[in-house]
Amino acid sequence: MKKQAFHNFVVDHMTFLVEPELYKTTYALLRIVFGVSREDLIYEKRSNWAGQPPRSMTFASRLGVHGGAGAPAQTIVAVVQPTEPDDKPSHVRQMLKNRGGGCHWQHIALRTPDLLGFHAFCLERGVNFITPVLKDDEEDLIQVFSGEWMVPGGRPTATFFEFVQRDPSPELLEELKSASNREAWFRDKTFLGLYGEKEAEYARGAATPFIDDALAERIARRIGRREVWEVDDALLGEVEADMLAYAAERLRAGAKSR
Ligand SMILES: [Fe+2]
Repeated sequence: MKKQAFHNFVVDHMTFLVEPELYKTTYALLRIVFGVSREDLIYEKRSNWAGQPPRSMTFASRLGVHGGAGAPAQTIVAVVQPTEPDDKPSHVRQMLKNRGGGCHWQHIALRTPDLLGFHAFCLERGVNFITPVLKDDEEDLIQVFSGEWMVPGGRPTATFFEFVQRDPSPELLEELKSASNREAWFRDKTFLGLYGEKEAEYARGAATPFIDDALAERIARRIGRREVWEVDDALLGEVEADMLAYAAERLRAGAKSR
């Protein structure tokens, strides 16, 4: 298994779902216990439902930052609560309920130096994404969201990955230093893009899995009864060949049905 340049991931941010009754407490705890200053609050979005006062849907807080050239390595937690009225569906509410309530780590965003390269690599191996590669207007952020990590035939787990690439211009990096522009790190279009996608999946009652059930079953069969320490590179090569073959077959079938 060859490690490629695009596999050199750093954590870009993590997204934490909490019940409404825990949302403001979470905010206070992050501010006080985790030392999140006003300048560290880098994004906030409010709901806009008719007949209901606006409520905070999400806020992103920066818990730490380490410099370096280009986009800095930061520890960022984005907190989300369901804000939909009780009589409206809410994928966030459903995710929390499915996971037993309280809170849930929903996704980790991993930053790669070559998102398009990694994305193509994944597609060739049958990995599913719920969005195309989203490109921000400013073109300094591209991102894509994977399917959910789940057992074949299992119910949605509300756990997935986001992959991002950030190539901020020197001008943007300068802007990000000033408090008034810190929201440039997270944007409505990308936050609401994912939010809408997940809402549609949960309304359908079926989430896209990270890999198709058929491929997951093929991998499980290939590994069989061996323990992880018995999975050598030769066997991993066979698993990868299964993934490549599966994705190629699926592509051919898709081309035919079009
Ligand atoms: Fe995210």
